[in-house]
Amino acid sequence: MAETAAALKTPTDLKTNAAKTVAEALNGLLADMFTLYITTKNFHWHVSGPHFRDYHLLLDDQAQQIYGITDAIAERVRKTGNVTLRSIGDISRHQTIKDNDADFVSPADMLSELRDDNLKLVESFRNVKDLADAAKDNATSGIVDEWTDQAEERAWFLFEASRKA
Ligand SMILES: [Fe+2]
Repeated sequence: MAETAAALKTPTDLKTNAAKTVAEALNGLLADMFTLYITTKNFHWHVSGPHFRDYHLLLDDQAQQIYGITDAIAERVRKTGNVTLRSIGDISRHQTIKDNDADFVSPADMLSELRDDNLKLVESFRNVKDLADAAKDNATSGIVDEWTDQAEERAWFLFEASRKA
C-alpha cells in the first residue's frame, strides 16, 4: 500500500505542504467542474421553449469548454506530486456546487443557476490562485487566469441570454 502511494510521488521542488494545499483546492475545483459539466449538459438536453435552439447550442459550447479544462486541472495536481480524483463517488465527496435533479427547470431558471454556478467557480479560481502564489506554484497561478476568464465569459453569455429586453 505504502509502496503504491510512493510510486505516485511525482518529483517536484515545491514545498510538500503548500503543494498539497493547492492540490486539495484543485481537486475541489475539479469536482465542481465535473458537476457543472453535467448540469450544463442536463440543461442542454432538457431545455424547452421558443429559444430552444439558441440555448441548446450555447449550453453545448459551454459544456465542451468546461470539460476541456478538467484534464489540465487534474494534471496540475499530478505534476506537483499529489493525487487527484478517481471516481464519480470521489467527485460527489468533493463537490461544492449542487446537482440539479429536478424533473423540470424553466429556461430562465436554467440560465440563472448556471450563471451563479460559474460565478462560484470564479471565486474558487481566485482562491486557487492565492494558494498557488503562496506555494510559489507559478504554473498553476498562470493557467488559472485563463480558466477564470472563460468562467466569466460563460457567466456573461448566460446573463445576456437571460435578459428580457
Ligand atoms: Fe448534444
